[in-house]
Amino acid sequence: MNIINARLRGKAGLFRIELNGDRIAAIQPQADVAAPGHADDLDAQQNLVIPPFIEPHIHLDATLTAGEPNWNMSGTLFEGIERWAERKELNTHADTKTRATKTIGMLVDHGIQHVRTHVDVTDPKLTALKAMVEVREEVRHLIDLQIVAFPQEGIESYANGRALMTEAVAMGADVVGGIPHFENTRDQGVSSVKFLMDLAERTGCLVDVHCDETDDPQSRFLEVLAEEARVRGMGARVTASHTTAMGSYDNAYCSKLFRLLKMSGINFVSCPTESIHLQGRFDTYPKRRGLTRVAEIDRAGMNVCFGQDSIVDPWYPLGNGNILRILEAGLHICHMLGYEDLQRSLDLITDNSARTLNLGERYGIEVGRPANLLVLSAPDDYEMVRSQGHALLSVRNGKVLMRRTPAHIERLG
Ligand code: FE2
Repeated sequence: MNIINARLRGKAGLFRIELNGDRIAAIQPQADVAAPGHADDLDAQQNLVIPPFIEPHIHLDATLTAGEPNWNMSGTLFEGIERWAERKELNTHADTKTRATKTIGMLVDHGIQHVRTHVDVTDPKLTALKAMVEVREEVRHLIDLQIVAFPQEGIESYANGRALMTEAVAMGADVVGGIPHFENTRDQGVSSVKFLMDLAERTGCLVDVHCDETDDPQSRFLEVLAEEARVRGMGARVTASHTTAMGSYDNAYCSKLFRLLKMSGINFVSCPTESIHLQGRFDTYPKRRGLTRVAEIDRAGMNVCFGQDSIVDPWYPLGNGNILRILEAGLHICHMLGYEDLQRSLDLITDNSARTLNLGERYGIEVGRPANLLVLSAPDDYEMVRSQGHALLSVRNGKVLMRRTPAHIERLG
């Protein structure tokens, strides 16, 4: 199969991309617009061809449960955790697999092929984790799935929290998680970070911590995580998710913090629709946006990407799998609609996310890499966002995985 008349990000002109089996075999510049030469040539029609979209932060074990048994009436993160604790009682192996698989289908429909899911391991039976380890195998033809052992109710504050984390990694979790701002005391938050970094270092797992997901400017576990990563030389393998308290830190503290963050080399994930919904809930007016400093992290040369976090769960009632919707919202909320930001906005849901997930040479439109790619509905990043475009074609391992027919509009007047 060949993709013809493709535009590539950062390169002028049109290209022909030759796929051989499950690999990209060649990328040739075209002198002019080409007509299909073979029956299996796919015409990109001078639109962008990019590697697949990535979902770097979602909770597939909690998805599609909003209102079961109770709705989150306050809209706060902490009520979300309470409502989820009720739903968790009802979780079964089959129910978790059914909901997660259905949601993965929604992600695939929007061109996502790499997913990092947090899975709640504060459950003596580890029901969700056992289910998700099976799902990871069953959906390999659709997505690459990373599983985070995520202690939703704490490592130190939850009975046998440390043992459950250790068991989850032994059962096959790829990534060690944490939630230090939810631990009962600051000391427990700090010790939880040290514990999870030890566990990751010992087992070779990646790290992705829900870190300072609060408007409390005194929540300062990010500095602990970054310092642990710096000292151990693990920064590239460590991600701080949310870090919304950074939106409430004063500038004096933040300028000092940024020095450490840069030295540490850690990655950041922001979930803009989730945070704008859950945070700012204790304010009247002026009301905080409750997001981390995405533009500032990016400007400082650090790695930051966007994720969905939830689809119809106790924390967020909407969502449909479309990461482009998250990108558009995030660019607005983070004051990133400037000309230069718009030229490279897709970085936030592609290349930056790949770096966060440590995908390395498993990702990218380059000869020898996997034949995983998307044909988009627009010729560049700016137009893709402006037109609220879509992935029209998703190719995985050299085969078409998803094809979307654009809406047809007939103007009659
Ligand atoms: Fe999350």
